[in-house]
Amino acid sequence: MEKKEAIRIENLTKVFKSRSSEVVALKNINLSVRDGEFLAIVGPSGCGKSTLLRILAGLEKQTEGNIYIKAKDSTKPLTAVVFQGDAVFPWMKVIENVEYGLRIRRVPPHERRRIATSYLRLMGLENFAHYYPHQLSGGMKQRVNVARAFASDPEILLMDEPFGALDEQNRLILQQELLRIWEGSGKTTVFITHSIDEAIFLGDRIVVMTAQPGRIKAILDVDLARPRDMLFMKSTPQFAELYKKVWELLREEVLKARK
Ligand SMILES: Nc1ncnc2c1ncn2[C@@H]1O[C@H](COP(=O)(O)OP(=O)(O)O)[C@@H](O)[C@H]1O
Ligand SMILES: [Mg+2]
Repeated sequence: MEKKEAIRIENLTKVFKSRSSEVVALKNINLSVRDGEFLAIVGPSGCGKSTLLRILAGLEKQTEGNIYIKAKDSTKPLTAVVFQGDAVFPWMKVIENVEYGLRIRRVPPHERRRIATSYLRLMGLENFAHYYPHQLSGGMKQRVNVARAFASDPEILLMDEPFGALDEQNRLILQQELLRIWEGSGKTTVFITHSIDEAIFLGDRIVVMTAQPGRIKAILDVDLARPRDMLFMKSTPQFAELYKKVWELLREEVLKARK
């Protein structure tokens, strides 16, 4: 791997086989993610986005090809994943949920409480540390998930449509919060979304995937200064231009996926 690379994906193919059928979910993916980059991935439903993320997370095995993830610190987890919807443990308090990854790594109680509390504060949840998930709204639970992923301090942060189930207002707030803590963390992030706005707002680059079998159709740079503000960004001509580009690429694929 090159020095500034965090992830390298080479000729990755994934085929789901069953007795009666074969689904080629991903076909020949080649991709390099830079260290500290926020990479957004968009593509039509069913094009293999989640499969790609699950392979990166080690939850699924590729059929062909290789994946390399640079581990700078062997005491840290390689990846942490934030999935769509709430994946918090209902029997644990908010603070315990956020501490979970640190506890698994046997970080001492005092230290893990300190780290978890700092991320809860960043997510505006410090007053809910001792609540149980069922006492929180959907948006708050998703903030717990984001805090938990950051607190576990992985080499790579993987997010699969984490805000997809939220209403628009909560989504806007969470996108802005995510951006704020991400900009302070420098963490390499792969973020899957079906929202073009979200991809532009968050990403350094946007990968557009084809309809099934998922391949890489295009990679676009997002040349918008950081820190970013959603409202301001949406009023700029660069945003409108990039939105149009991404949508034109995506539209063809969405139409194919409908056939
Ligand atoms: N465990 C599985 N077994 C069989 N087929 C699967 C499995 N997981 C995903 N697929 C198929 O692989 C394709 C890609 O799925 P997925 O990665 O979930 O797409 P996306 O996240 O882009 O909507 C779909 O056709 C889906 O039905
Ligand atoms: Mg998916």
